[in-house]
Amino acid sequence: MPFPQDRLRRLRATAGFRRLVRETRLSVDNLIAPFFVMEGRDVRQPIGAMPGQWRVSVDHLIKDAGEVHALGVPAILLFGIPARKDELGSEAWAPDGIVPRAVRAVKDTVPDVMVITDVCVDEYTTHGHCGIVKDGQVVNDETLACLQKMALSHARAGADMVAPSDMMDGRIGAIRQALDGEGFSQVPILAYAAKFASCLYAPFREAADSTPKFGDRQSYQMDPANLREALREIELDIQEGADIVMIKPALPYLDVVHAARQAFNRPIAAYQVSGEYSMIKAAAQLGWLDERRAMLETLLAIHRAGADLILTYFAKEAARALHE
Ligand code: PBG
Repeated sequence: MPFPQDRLRRLRATAGFRRLVRETRLSVDNLIAPFFVMEGRDVRQPIGAMPGQWRVSVDHLIKDAGEVHALGVPAILLFGIPARKDELGSEAWAPDGIVPRAVRAVKDTVPDVMVITDVCVDEYTTHGHCGIVKDGQVVNDETLACLQKMALSHARAGADMVAPSDMMDGRIGAIRQALDGEGFSQVPILAYAAKFASCLYAPFREAADSTPKFGDRQSYQMDPANLREALREIELDIQEGADIVMIKPALPYLDVVHAARQAFNRPIAAYQVSGEYSMIKAAAQLGWLDERRAMLETLLAIHRAGADLILTYFAKEAARALHE
């Protein structure tokens, strides 16, 4: 029934009709808030390229976690910034390292917030790569042992879920095996399954001081051109035991999110990364975009494409907006 009988504008005419026929709703239940935690007391360092985000010491992290929890955000994701880096990144699996201490502190004070930890050594290595470097190459299988130790140190501290972001082959199976072997069969794995070698991580690398000192991450992170390969990555991670699979970044890769949603009956997560956040913040500061609307529209789009969970630096602001 074409025009003039059919008029799609009829159901757009009022806010009431629009509410009735809205297909997708963003909920605070979908959001995960990332935090950067560092050594020291009473530290709150602004991150230049990420206005509104800080590197905080554990005492401040507790407050921030309490705040997002009070707003209804169910989970936080922790990135650790160690006091000391070395060639192997050995602080990454220190039992009293920054992340295990942060996990314990948050679970002690805000027990209901789900604490997810990023598992990857790049913040802990002097060279800034996501694995052990030998002869200028990031070696895969040796790195798996580091990731196992790191995931275990987080699980022992009480992390509710671990999230490997390194993109080594076989890491999900290796971590699953390590967790199961030590009595943590109930700790799920959120796999950064399709993580692209993106320019949009640049503000994060400032925040975490993890820019590679040589080369780039293209030998382990994915080529932005590849959709089919992304589905293979996701499929393999599921076979190895991933409970939730993530696509990252989010907005430029909504086709991947959508294809993953169609192909797999698993919870799908998408990470609105630092650069996506910074672009919106910068444009808003220049008066070129309405920040609140840009935030809500992009998050809604990520959800509509098929992401059940969204990791976003806007979590707190979005939660506030969704409560209004
Ligand atoms: C690696 C890691 C990165 C991000 C999350 N985990 C950085 C990288 O791969 O360089 C990026 C997150 C963001 O940009 O917000 N530990």
